[in-house]
Amino acid sequence: MSNRDGIVIGLLGVGTIGSSVMRIIGERQRIISERLGCPIYIKKALVRDLDRSRDVDMSRLTTSVADILDDPEINVVIEVLGGENPAHEYIARAIARGKYVVTANKEVMAKHGLELLHQARENGVDIYFEASVGGGIPLIGPFRQDLAANEIVSIKAIINGTTNYILTRMAQSGTEFGAALRQAQELGYAEPDPTNDIQATDAAYKLAILATLAFRVPVRPPDVYREGIDRLHPRDFQYARELGYAIKLLAIAKRIGDGVEVRVHPAFLPNDFLLAQVNDVYNGVHVEGDLVGKVLFYGQGAGPAPTSSAIVADVIDLAQDLQKGVANRSVFKPNSALALLPMEAVRTRYYLRLQVADRPGVLAQIAKICGDNDISIASVIQKEVSDLAPFAEIVIMTHAAREDHMRAALVAMRLSSSVKEIGNFIRVEGND
Ligand code: NDP
Ligand code: HSE
Repeated sequence: MSNRDGIVIGLLGVGTIGSSVMRIIGERQRIISERLGCPIYIKKALVRDLDRSRDVDMSRLTTSVADILDDPEINVVIEVLGGENPAHEYIARAIARGKYVVTANKEVMAKHGLELLHQARENGVDIYFEASVGGGIPLIGPFRQDLAANEIVSIKAIINGTTNYILTRMAQSGTEFGAALRQAQELGYAEPDPTNDIQATDAAYKLAILATLAFRVPVRPPDVYREGIDRLHPRDFQYARELGYAIKLLAIAKRIGDGVEVRVHPAFLPNDFLLAQVNDVYNGVHVEGDLVGKVLFYGQGAGPAPTSSAIVADVIDLAQDLQKGVANRSVFKPNSALALLPMEAVRTRYYLRLQVADRPGVLAQIAKICGDNDISIASVIQKEVSDLAPFAEIVIMTHAAREDHMRAALVAMRLSSSVKEIGNFIRVEGND
């Protein structure tokens, strides 16, 4: 296939992202064509519902995927349907018919990316997925090329715009969780099913993609330990503020000896760590490589315009391949022997918020449980309560401890007559 006739696009999906891509390619057609040296246009766009009103050229819409996949003139397919299926099936069919693919679909790339890259190689085409992680921030390109000389030491990242928006609103304006989520949805940040954002499934997909590229080891979504933001309480934000921390949904991939830990969960970040200052829909990806040292990628991680920026850039990039008749300029093969480490082996610091009986000896009992489980306490806060209140709230910050030791301590605390409730426990991460 060549670009004699230019870049002829079939668009799969005309929702939040697809309609933005359609508008931008329409509005900037002349400029993009000049940059490419050939014409570019969207020939057909797939939707479910033709009657839904949309701010795009309705004459291009179709409900038949065959109008795109079976059209030999269409040489590039942009997939922005979302979800695993039928997106995965359509991408595989497009590649099998010798079409280049651009996708923003982290679920498909996290679950099937390696197989699709292989299939594309076999078919002499390529699959581009810059928009699948970090919205408009260049990340896939840098991991595949610019950082390729490095052994990656760690990735610490805020890679979900919706949850970062919600956490920022809750921390800075005291906005209630549901209202902050609704705002994120109205702004076009959330996934079609926002539980994927809230429960960190989206961030786990993105981390699986980045960790696979960075450590050259296949990381699948079930390999990523995952906790969402739904169990955070306004009191946790209050204590974080008092103690000099921000609470973020943090994705971590870290080399430890011959292994890699991969996890996504809420974390206390000290205010002087750059990622603690990444707010609203912004994402931040902090990478450490053995040669480059520490690098920070920062920008809008969700939303129609930044995501379209990455998608259209991928189209411009692949057009160079089409023009020159090459594919797979940057072959990726995971060939590392690194093992994926279990969550139980992770060592980190912890914040613990407990409701305890307000009577003599209680603190000593809790300290003993920590000591028995090899957990060293760094600080304790207990606020004065009225003499009538039967329970007090204490907050413990620990030194680094093993996750399995902390879990054993939590079991012992739950069984203790002195502990009424474990309010929360949140891992504490820093710039180390
Ligand atoms: P939307 O739900 O807004 O849009 C999905 C579109 O796909 C709709 O036009 C829908 O048709 C169409 N569609 C879905 N299923 C089918 C089907 N089976 N057959 C035909 N058409 C179908 O999703 P978004 O635009 O928000 O997200 C799209 C993708 O982009 C997702 O993979 C998401 O993860 C990714 N992404 C999103 C970002 C964001 O900021 N929102 C950022 C980066 C990536 P209809 O309109 O008729 O219902
Ligand atoms: N729902 C995703 C987010 C979209 O909020 O980050 C960008 O991938």
